[in-house]
Amino acid sequence: MKIAVPAESAEAESRVAATPETVKRLIALGAEIVVQAGAGEGSRYPDADYQTAGAKVLKTANAVTKDADIVLRVRRPTPAELHGVKAGALAIALMDPYGHEAEIAALGEAGVRAFAMELMPRITRAQVMDVLSSQASLAGYQAVIDAAEAYDRAFPMMMTAAGTVPAAKVFVMGAGVAGLQAIATARRLGASVTATDVRPAAKEQVESLGAKFIAVEDEEFKQAETTAGYAKPMSAEYQAKQAELTASHIAKQDIVITTALIPGRPAPRLVSKAMLDSMKPGSVVVDLAVERGGNVEGAVAGEIVAVGPATIVGRLNVAGRIPATASSLYARNLYAFVETLIDKEAKVVALNYEDDLVKATLLTNDGAVVHPMFAKKEGAA
Ligand code: NAI
Repeated sequence: MKIAVPAESAEAESRVAATPETVKRLIALGAEIVVQAGAGEGSRYPDADYQTAGAKVLKTANAVTKDADIVLRVRRPTPAELHGVKAGALAIALMDPYGHEAEIAALGEAGVRAFAMELMPRITRAQVMDVLSSQASLAGYQAVIDAAEAYDRAFPMMMTAAGTVPAAKVFVMGAGVAGLQAIATARRLGASVTATDVRPAAKEQVESLGAKFIAVEDEEFKQAETTAGYAKPMSAEYQAKQAELTASHIAKQDIVITTALIPGRPAPRLVSKAMLDSMKPGSVVVDLAVERGGNVEGAVAGEIVAVGPATIVGRLNVAGRIPATASSLYARNLYAFVETLIDKEAKVVALNYEDDLVKATLLTNDGAVVHPMFAKKEGAA
């Protein structure tokens, strides 16, 4: 059983899908591991460390994937990047399937069984495989670091002989995994932190981190959480009330960090140009949702831009800005999943199509898209 770990081809991708630690553990499962030379470089894992862990290091991506039973990646591969894999080989990655149905179909046609790690159900058994949580948590931390870098003042209150410097006021919009970690990090740096969300469950979590919760807590708010724990898209009426409440608050903030997402949909727009204009000179807004359309008007994916008095930080792949940590957690998430897909006695891939984890994440099989959310409906135009 051969497991391939090619180097990531996307320019902005610094992470890697296996670390020397997980290589060792995969070998213990009976796998032969082949890593592309330089694959771990962006995350500070030298080729020699993979070799010491027992992996074979080969130069080209094609040599790595040839005859592979499983290909582990951070990002969705193209069919060409799965050169020579066995028929029915597993390709496991962040597949970014929403809006990329054609690319997913192409993986099906290429004959691989593609798994989207971001569709892992949030059940107890799969917590160790939850890539959204591991990466969002790091992104939330890094968003505060990025905000501090762009902010020309200190975060903590400082009492000096020359006078007192007030604590920075940080407002976190969206208190899921990323937002809660941003709150905790900003608090550790000494900021005065407030936060908002549309899910009632977030209130207690925000308060338990020592931040103040601010939200429109009406009837719609009470129903805003889906059974899966995610937010529902809110009505135009709710959004208007929310904007009214947050507008006056944002005007008093030094830093706003937005993390609001709704699965499978564009990010909700929470900060308008008028709100940005109301901020003090030197204010910083970090939009963690910028890859999904952005929470902030005027945010540009991959750029830091000035809008009125504020600087909007729209960095891409924020977890990848701390690649060594991001890779170590992502690789462990992947290892935990792979372990469930292998017959350890026979040392072969053995998929149980009835397993909830497989059902939730398997996108393609037997040449076609099989995931109910992405398969073409019979008779659809
Ligand atoms: P996410 O990344 O989809 O969204 C981020 C946050 O934005 C969420 O808290 C969401 O409620 C909020 N949001 C959406 N629309 C908004 C709006 N219009 N205004 C303000 N906020 C808005 O969510 P994430 O971070 O993946 O977490 C969702 C939930 O799942 C959380 O409660 C988290 O604690 C829970 N969770 C459960 C796990 C488990 O049980 N295994 C593992 C990880 C998370």
